[in-house]
Amino acid sequence: MKITFLGHAALLIETKEHRLVVDPFITGNELAKDKIDLKSLKPDFILVTHAHQDHVLDVPALAEESGATIISNYEIVTYYGQKGFNGHPMNHGGNWEFPFGNVKYVNAVHTSSFADGTYGGQPGGFLLSIEGKQIYIAGDTALHMDMKLIPEYGDLDLAVLPIGDNFTMGVADALRASEFVECDTILGVHYDTFGYIKIDKEKSKATFEAAGKKLRLPDIGGSIEV
Ligand code: NI
Ligand code: MN
Repeated sequence: MKITFLGHAALLIETKEHRLVVDPFITGNELAKDKIDLKSLKPDFILVTHAHQDHVLDVPALAEESGATIISNYEIVTYYGQKGFNGHPMNHGGNWEFPFGNVKYVNAVHTSSFADGTYGGQPGGFLLSIEGKQIYIAGDTALHMDMKLIPEYGDLDLAVLPIGDNFTMGVADALRASEFVECDTILGVHYDTFGYIKIDKEKSKATFEAAGKKLRLPDIGGSIEV
């Protein structure tokens, strides 16, 4: 499948038959808004890790346009349900078989509230099993010991990890996280968007390289095959 980096922590995942958008934050991202056309994304499903604005800003516009089903925790799906959007509520540790594959909502250590102050439930990440591939999307999180449970569910093909520090793990802890989840290919997200999370990309790649791992940092709009 093809995974396109949409800037910050936003992704477009294209499977054989479905289009998934993760944590859409495009129109408010100075680095992405001129490179990504929201209308071109046309998701069937929108996966939301937590309620912070830099993960949900474009959820209403995308859901309105495409009628996509929002997959997230109970509180976030209920919040959007009250606004008339379709959703599938989950909670930590649960699995559901969707038309595109299996989703497990997993733990993250972070916070989660909407911009208007509404409680967004506990933040999470996703373990996706799609077309025989396993992808871990950590969401905004600190390094935490529950990451060691991830390989219990099978070998990962890709780990999507935040690397920008300050609000989430930085590069050093993301490298430890890649060891906890036993994955050698990492897609780095949640960096460079605003001042607190600027990183040195080459140095970050070298840190992973020295540990025998590959940190992928595609340009905004760039894709990787999994
Ligand atoms: Ni956050
Ligand atoms: Mn964030």
